[in-house]
Amino acid sequence: MTDAAGPTLLVCINRRPGAHRPSCGARGSERLADLLEDGLAARGVALPVERIRCLGRCDDGPTVRLSPGGDFFLGADTADLAALLDRVIDGWQRLEARP
Ligand code: FES
Repeated sequence: MTDAAGPTLLVCINRRPGAHRPSCGARGSERLADLLEDGLAARGVALPVERIRCLGRCDDGPTVRLSPGGDFFLGADTADLAALLDRVIDGWQRLEARP
């Protein structure tokens, strides 16, 4: 995780060899991270996207989370990217508004 001054969007890109356990990378999260980054930039949102290895919610992935201490977005995918971006931005705004 980062020591960035403000919130960060964490995207798990963990990829496990073999199929004995699920992993977000095997479910397309690298591309999801790229699309989230592009989508946030297109909306003028200064929210860094950090690619990390596992958020401990492997069975529910792809896993995305606002940090520090923000919402999880489980089962995130690219099927409705606009709606996911809306939810991420709403969560980010709530993090920014914290005292
Ligand atoms: S592999 Fe993504 S949360 Fe664990």
